[in-house]
This record gives sequence, structure tokens and C-alpha cells, in this order.
Amino acid sequence: MRLLLFPFLVFLAHGDRPADPRVARDSRTTSDWLSRLPDGEVKRRFILDCAGCHPLDDAVMTVGGRPRTREEWAQSVDLMLSFAGAHTGFPIMTPSRDAASTADWLAEHLTELPPPPAVVPDASHWSVEEFPLPRAADLPHDVAVTADGRVVVTGMMSDVLYVLDPESRTFEELSIPVAGANPRAVEIAPDGAWWVVLGGPTTLARRDPASGDWRTWDVGMYPHEAALDSAGRAWFNGHFTKEPELLGFVDPSEDAAPVTRDVPVPALADGGSNIPYGLRVGPDGTVWMTELAGGRLIGLDPASGEFRVHPLPEPFSGPRRLDVAADGTVWIPEFAANRLASFDPATSRFQEHDIPVPDALPYVARVDPRTGAIWVALAGAGAVARFDPAREAFDLVPLPTRDGIVRHLAVDARTGDVWGAYASFPARSQHVFRIRGR
Ligand code: HEC
Repeated sequence: MRLLLFPFLVFLAHGDRPADPRVARDSRTTSDWLSRLPDGEVKRRFILDCAGCHPLDDAVMTVGGRPRTREEWAQSVDLMLSFAGAHTGFPIMTPSRDAASTADWLAEHLTELPPPPAVVPDASHWSVEEFPLPRAADLPHDVAVTADGRVVVTGMMSDVLYVLDPESRTFEELSIPVAGANPRAVEIAPDGAWWVVLGGPTTLARRDPASGDWRTWDVGMYPHEAALDSAGRAWFNGHFTKEPELLGFVDPSEDAAPVTRDVPVPALADGGSNIPYGLRVGPDGTVWMTELAGGRLIGLDPASGEFRVHPLPEPFSGPRRLDVAADGTVWIPEFAANRLASFDPATSRFQEHDIPVPDALPYVARVDPRTGAIWVALAGAGAVARFDPAREAFDLVPLPTRDGIVRHLAVDARTGDVWGAYASFPARSQHVFRIRGR
């Protein structure tokens, strides 16, 4: 395990570099570039392998103001495969990703610069405020709001947690008592405990709200998310697990080891992981999980141990971080297919809604518990969308910074404010932001 992690740790060290200068607002976004590529499975698989770490915008797609040549593409893809290919310690790409065919395809379709950037319509109802991260080169992956309105942010590259007080606009840094903590996801339980997912150390950590003391569980796999159930348990999934794919929980009320279950699904045809991904518990206790590469929604009934497997309507649509509404509807952003899907557990039917910006890369969905609206971060378009299920319509909120990859959103249940962070890797202008109604 340690050996496997080594390349990933080297890759983490890149995070210490100074952040790139902010890309001007008038430069083309990932959405502008991806719209030039022909739609279809090749494109969706390209998006899954290549659009999850950094923007594919002017800064990445051009050299000296012109599109990359075939040779330049081949070199870059080789470099990407060397630290994130299927046989590395961070196997986020499928085994079939290969430099030559990727370079052929990109060079064939990207012979010219895309037209000038599309303008995202201004959202007069919403204002966005940014809070610069104290460590500019960190990767602020997830955000969570405490009961008193402070915002906990995971510093994935610096191994700390940031706690933002929005009133004073100051960040406090909290250390985590695990070497190389690599905090990825964070959830706050109804009892106020912080559950933090530590990727590299294969650990789930719980911070007691009253004492500030930590308790940790080695879950034996690189966990992707934590999802809390009404019994106080924290569920986790093994990001790169395959044959078997693993899902499990820890129970803080007991002194027991983590319990894991095999998810009954085959690996991808090319032998890659299905990339277990989003994880949430529904109001009836169903544990819902998406597979980023496998393209399935999986529901586990923890009482019976029964799994239900629901493939998304289109292969390689890239279902990422789902949420479940109070009525049990599952909301799923289709990262590679540019749609927001809803799934009704009563009928096992999907309904899909096109995102009104092309190739916008919807990454995470979060339901506002007060209104039932669904907030969706558009990682490729520098915007957040708000879907109103009654009107079946989206409103768009453009972000002041358009090249941030927003990986998570948290809705403050008291105020309806929406929090997120720009988390490109390598770092761009990493900020925390807040969207509020005017
Ligand atoms: C795991 C995260 C990750 C993924 C996935 C990823 N990249 Fe990168 N990419 C990086 C990092 C980190 C750098 C900076 C590398 C450096 O400067 O050493 C980078 C740099 C680049 C560059 C800048 C030029 C260069 O060669 O240094 C290009 C172009 C690029 N990536 C294209 C791609 C393409 C195409 C894919 C899909 C095949 C991809 N990236 C997938 C992390 C990623």
C-alpha cells in the first residue's frame, strides 16, 4: 500500500508551488473549448479522464496563443498518464487512455482557436463574494457550514482544515493529528461532530465539537466521501476499489472496526475501476452511490443488505456528487453529459435536464432544504446553476473567477447562503465563495 501511495505523494508535492496568476475574465473557459469537440462517447470519456483536475481553458489548451500541435498534445498526455494513469498510485484515468489516439483526436478537432468567450448572463438576484485562501497553492476541496455559521474547508495539499468566520473574514487553521492527513471531504453531523475523509492515510476522522478531540479509523482504502445516516454512522466508499468495489461504515458509538460490503458490479471492460464516487444517505436510510467511470447509480438498503443497480441512461455520462431531497428524489450531476438527472426510487426512472451552458461540467448537486431548489456547480463554466424543480428551469449565477474547479457546495440551512471553493489542480486563484440572495 505504501509503495502504491508513493507516486501520489510526489504528485501532492506539486501543490507547494506558487499559484498561477489569475486568468483574465475574458479568456475562454473549459466550456468554450470543449464545445469545439464533437459530441459522443469519445468526448465523454475524454472529459472523464482530463477535465477533473484543472481547467481546459486558454492557459492549458494553447501554447504562445495558438492551439497545441499533435506532438505537444502527445507529450502532455504522456505526462498526465505518468502520475494519474491507471497504473499509478492515483489511478483516476481508465487503462484505455493512450497518448497517441488522444493527441490525434485533439489535434484533428482543435486546429483553430474557439470564438471569443460566451457571456454568462448576469444573475441580478444573486451576489457572490470571494474570500482568498490563506495558502494560495492549497486545494480547498470541500466546505461545510457549522451551526453557528462558520465554514470548515479541507486543505487537501497542506493537510490542515481552515475555519472561516464570515463576519470577520478571517481564517483559522486547525491541524489534524494524522501525518500527511490529505483531507478531502468533510461533513458535519447533527451532533456537531466533523467527519473528515483523509484520502492518502486511508482514514476516516471524527472531531468532537465540545472537546476538539479526534478519533480515527483506518478504513484500509483511499476513501472518497463520507455520508452520515440517522443512526449516527458514517459511510465511506473506496475511490479506486474494483473487484470488489467497496462501500462501508464506521459506528462511533461502538468500539468496532469498520464494516465493509462488496458492491455487486463488474469492473469496466478495459479492467479499470468504476471509480466509486458520490455518496449520500436518503431519508429512508438508503445509501446512494454513483460511479464516475462506471456510470451507475447504486442504492444499498442497509437493513436487508440488498443492492439495487441503476445504470444512467447514457454510458460514460460521469455521474459525480449526488444529493437526495427530502422527498427521496436523487439528484445527480452528469459531469460528462452536461445534464442534471433526477431519479425517482419509487418508479426507478431517471429524468434528465440539459444544463443551459454547453459542456459546463456539472460536478456537485446540493438541495437547499428550505426551498427544495438544487444548486449545481458548473466546473467548466465558472458558474453555479440553481434548478427549480417546480418550474423545471435553471437560473445561472456567474462566479467572479471563471477558472475555478468547484468540487463541492454547502447550503447554510439557516440562511440559504451557498458556499463553495475554487479548487483547481495545479492551483489557480483558490478562494472560498458565498452566494446569497440580494
Ligand atoms: C490528476 C490530475 C490531472 C489530470 C486527471 C489531468 N491533468 Fe493535466 N495537469 C495536471 C498537473 C498537476 C499539471 C501540471 C504539470 C506540471 O507542471 O508538471 C497538468 C498540466 C497539463 C497541461 C499543461 C502542459 C504540460 O504538458 O505541462 C496540459 C496541456 C494538460 N495538463 C492536459 C491534460 C489532459 C489532456 C489530460 C487528460 C489526458 C489531463 N491533463 C489530465 C493534472 C492533471
